[in-house]
Amino acid sequence: MAVQFSEAALKEYEEIVTRYPDKKATLLPALWLAQREFGYVSDEVLEYIAQLVGMPAVKVYEVAEFYTMFHKKKPGKYHLQLCQTISCYLRGAEDLRSYIQETLQVLPGETSADGLFSFQLVECLGSCHTAPVIKINDEYYDSLTVEKLDAIIRHLKKNSSGEDHGV
Ligand code: FES
Repeated sequence: MAVQFSEAALKEYEEIVTRYPDKKATLLPALWLAQREFGYVSDEVLEYIAQLVGMPAVKVYEVAEFYTMFHKKKPGKYHLQLCQTISCYLRGAEDLRSYIQETLQVLPGETSADGLFSFQLVECLGSCHTAPVIKINDEYYDSLTVEKLDAIIRHLKKNSSGEDHGV
């Protein structure tokens, strides 16, 4: 098998196993660990995890497919998750979506040509009172307007200038 955890990740996984009565119950933490270790959970990684937790690969695929927080493809340096559920929708999420698609030239599920931004539409991010909301990597940005999002995107691009992306 081509992919496998580093020694440190494997040790971490073994520690996780001690907290559960059954190895199969470690599936979600194992997937989290795999995403942190490999950056995303490719088919190859999912097969590795299936062997590790002792489950059929198809079940592991189903779980990874169900949860939007697991990336099946390599994400951009900045992964944008735009909430499209009702509160955000009513407060301008569609305008934010249009801005992202036009400015970054990415459709949902895609990564920008420079590898800097990937874009995903997600269901409620749990911050409806500050709608509309976008999550960029682990940060929440709320009460957004197109102008605010534009400033954030410009800032992220500026922060990345001089790096490999050439933006
Ligand atoms: S509806 Fe968007 S955060 Fe809940």
